[in-house]
Amino acid sequence: MSPTASPSRRLRLGVNIDHVATLRNARGGSYPCPVAAAKLAAEAGADGITAHLREDRRHIRDEDIARLRAEVGLPLNLEMAATPEMVSIAVRTKPHAACLVPEKREERTTEGGLDIILGREHLRPVIGELKAAGIRVSLFVEPERAVMDAAAELGAPVVELHTGTYAHAVIDGDSDRIAAERQRLLAAARHGAALGLEIHAGHGLTVHSVGPIAAIAEILELNIGHALISDAIFVGLGEAVRTMRLAMDEGRTMTAAQPIP
Ligand code: PXP
Repeated sequence: MSPTASPSRRLRLGVNIDHVATLRNARGGSYPCPVAAAKLAAEAGADGITAHLREDRRHIRDEDIARLRAEVGLPLNLEMAATPEMVSIAVRTKPHAACLVPEKREERTTEGGLDIILGREHLRPVIGELKAAGIRVSLFVEPERAVMDAAAELGAPVVELHTGTYAHAVIDGDSDRIAAERQRLLAAARHGAALGLEIHAGHGLTVHSVGPIAAIAEILELNIGHALISDAIFVGLGEAVRTMRLAMDEGRTMTAAQPIP
């Protein structure tokens, strides 16, 4: 293994705590508390906390966002749809970052990236308003060259590449698709970084699939939720975060061109 990623390009881990709130909401009440989970994740080495305030409030709620902002000493990345309601919440609560995501009521999770090519005229003022409020804006997008071009043209400083298709290929154990999807992520990350975009990635990543994505030196942040909260059932959240961190650090020492183990 030949190390490539310079230490200055340390890969950050954003822990998504949505599904702690999913569990809480299953019984009403206040337990388990996503804010307490965020504090545990911080102690275990998370670099940031991510939470998705959905229109239907199916997991994270408005008061969680306010408490995450006030009580947790890590940058908060608010995932949100580009709607007037969410923009006004973001401008009021001022998270460190806002990640614009597509949102469909009937979906189980965010199923694909934002269409920033067709939707560019809708997104332009939203990005402008969030940036004017001092919030770092990222766009959750498919890993495609044309999409990187559109993000740069829109003036978004960050893109988060959707890793869901790659993650599905890993679950299916389909090595051709795994290699093709990883290559698609690598090409998009390189193109986006060359355009001056900061590159993040996430969705569906697990300790088993994170390594080859962590190996892409242009990617500076991963946002991971479902696998961490699931692993936490068996080993506790602190241990789940530490194990993910180790898998990321190990992956970071691989070269991006190295065959996927
Ligand atoms: N990034 C974004 C933009 C997301 O919408 C999600 C899911 O909420 C994630 C990352 C994390 O995905 P997962 O929960 O599958 O790790």
